[in-house]
Amino acid sequence: MSGTDILRVNALKVHFDVGRAPGGGRKIVHAVDGVDFTVRRGSSFGIVGESGSGKSTIAQAIMRLVPITDGSVYLQEHQISGLEGQSLRDVRGKFQMVFQDPFSSLNPRKKARAAIREPLDLLDIGEARGRDGVAEDMLTAVGLHREAGRLFPHQFSGGQRQRLCIARALASRPELIVCDEPVSALDVAIQAQILNLLRQLQADMGLSYVFISHDLAVVQYICDDVAVMYLGEFVETAPAKSLFASAKHPYTWSLMSAALSPENERGTLAKRPLLGGEPPSPTAPPPGCRFAARCPFATDRCRAEKPALRGFGGGHKVACHYAGELEPPLPELKAA
Ligand SMILES: Nc1ncnc2c1ncn2[C@@H]1O[C@H](COP(=O)(O)OP(=O)(O)O)[C@@H](O)[C@H]1O
Ligand code: SF4
Ligand SMILES: [Mg+2]
Repeated sequence: MSGTDILRVNALKVHFDVGRAPGGGRKIVHAVDGVDFTVRRGSSFGIVGESGSGKSTIAQAIMRLVPITDGSVYLQEHQISGLEGQSLRDVRGKFQMVFQDPFSSLNPRKKARAAIREPLDLLDIGEARGRDGVAEDMLTAVGLHREAGRLFPHQFSGGQRQRLCIARALASRPELIVCDEPVSALDVAIQAQILNLLRQLQADMGLSYVFISHDLAVVQYICDDVAVMYLGEFVETAPAKSLFASAKHPYTWSLMSAALSPENERGTLAKRPLLGGEPPSPTAPPPGCRFAARCPFATDRCRAEKPALRGFGGGHKVACHYAGELEPPLPELKAA
């Protein structure tokens, strides 16, 4: 891993065994089916895709919250996919997570200060008597008053509660924060405040983010590099500028055209997909291109032969047999 990389994910697979299949054998959900990516130190790596594509499962695999079926996850020099017990606890403070729902991710009976210092208590980081002070410093870092540490979660607004969750994630001085839909549960006006806070903290503390969202506008605002995910796989990965200027995968176009549709003010792609149909079941992914059943350009070759991610220069990669030859359905999506 190069010295500028903070996280490297290699050929990651997370499969869930969900019971017996009707014809014998097991039913396996291919939630994440072989993804590779690298996060440069101090940068934000975005993962975007419809609900069910496997984004949260990647987050949980990095955080070691689900078993990894195959592949590896390196945080700096530590292979976190292989660590157990004390050696996992030793690096555990270096990566933290912020979840979508600030309401359910806080214990209603714990005061803010106790919630923020909890990771320090669990991981035994620093002197016990200094931890309240650290918690209060974190409150001010996220734009809340030190005195707010004495309040319970229900005494905060939604946006303030997400600030609390961010303060808790920051307490152990992590280098990487995995943000899984951190603003999706918030009002639009509050979303911008939280995104600005995350950007400011990144600049101040040199943080790196894995940033998951179904919302392209959010990803465009905050991410340096982006992966578009469909049914457990990355179908297009690129620097954000390159992706938003010249997306090449038909699935990415459909996400973008949904985000452009005027009645869709929040860009809530999951709710208003321009795409027809549903993705195929992740328990039986199709053999060729996984997008073929919904792709307007699909051919027999697409249904039979799986497209590999191919490079188009400048770190832009696309998994489509006809990438570079197809015209996007809307002229405003055409490459500049
Ligand atoms: N613990 C689990 N057991 C079985 N299936 C799961 C589990 N977690 C997620 N899945 C399935 O894996 C797929 C990907 O889910 P998820 O990672 O939550 O997607 P996303 O975050 O993109 O909406 C979905 O089909 C989901 O139902
Ligand atoms: S490989 Fe074929 S089906 Fe898949 S995205 Fe490209 S054109 Fe569509
Ligand atoms: Mg999710």
